[in-house]
Amino acid sequence: MTENVYAIQLENVRLSYSGKAVIDGASCAIRKNAVTAVVGPSGSGKSTLLRTLCRMNDRIPGFRAEGSVRVLGRVILDPGIMVYELLSRVGMVFQKPCVFPKSIYENVVFGLRFHASPNGENFSERAERALRDAFLWDEVKDRLDQPAHILSQGQQQRLAMARTLAVDPEILLMDEPTSALDPKSSNAIEDLILSLKDRHTIILVTHSVEQAERVAEDLICVDDQTVCHKPCQRPLPGEGTG
Ligand SMILES: Nc1ncnc2c1ncn2[C@@H]1O[C@H](COP(=O)(O)OP(=O)(O)OP(=O)(O)O)[C@@H](O)[C@H]1O
Ligand SMILES: [Mg+2]
Repeated sequence: MTENVYAIQLENVRLSYSGKAVIDGASCAIRKNAVTAVVGPSGSGKSTLLRTLCRMNDRIPGFRAEGSVRVLGRVILDPGIMVYELLSRVGMVFQKPCVFPKSIYENVVFGLRFHASPNGENFSERAERALRDAFLWDEVKDRLDQPAHILSQGQQQRLAMARTLAVDPEILLMDEPTSALDPKSSNAIEDLILSLKDRHTIILVTHSVEQAERVAEDLICVDDQTVCHKPCQRPLPGEGTG
C-alpha cells in the first residue's frame, strides 16, 4: 500500500565518510509524483543523500550507507542489486551542466545506448521527444550533429536534462540544477520541473527557499545529521485538503 504512495522510504539511515557520519538515524518517505525540495546548510549532506538514492557514491573510498533505503519498493543498499537497472528508473541531474565531448544528438541518446533494448528502439524519435520535453528542441533541431559544448550553460543544463529524460526514469534527482544559471535559464528549468511532475517523482536540492515554494509540494530539511520531513506544503492534484 505505502509503495503506491511513496517512491522512496528511508528508515534509520546512516551515511558516513571514513566512519564520520554526515546523516545519522534518518527516516522519511517521499511521495510519488510530487516535487520534494531538499534544503539545508552547505555541507549538511544534501548531495550525499541524493547520490545515495542512485548508488552514485559506491565508488567513493570510505563511503558507507547503512539502514534501509527503499526506492520504488526495492531495497537498494543490497550489494547484489543491479545498479544499471536502478539507474534506468532513477535519473540524476547535477549542479554544473554535465555534457560529454560529443554531438548534441549523441549526448541525448547517451543513456539510451546503455539502457534501451537494442531492437526496435527508435533513438531519434526518443531524442526528439526528450529535447521537446526539455524545451530545447527548437533551439537545437537544426544542429543536432554539432558539438554540445557550443551550447550556452542554460542550454547545456537542458541538454543534460534531456539526456536524463530520454531514458524515461520514474524518479528525477536534481542537485541544485539552477544554481549555475542566469534567471532566464533558471526559470526555464523551473517551468520544466513543473511540467514534469505529473509523470515523475522529482527530488530537488535547492538553496533557494523561494524556488522550493514555487515548485515543491513537500520539503525535506537536512541539518545536524538529521533529515526532517516537513508536512506537505500543498496537496497533490486530486487530494483533499482536509
Ligand atoms: N567524497 C567525500 N569524501 C569525504 N567527505 C565528503 C565527500 N563528499 C562530501 N563529503 C563531506 O560530507 C559532508 C556533506 O557533503 P555534501 O556535499 O553532501 O553537502 P551538501 O549539503 O550537498 O553541501 P552544499 O550545499 O555545499 O552542496 C561535508 O562535510 C563534506 O565535506
Ligand atoms: Mg551539494
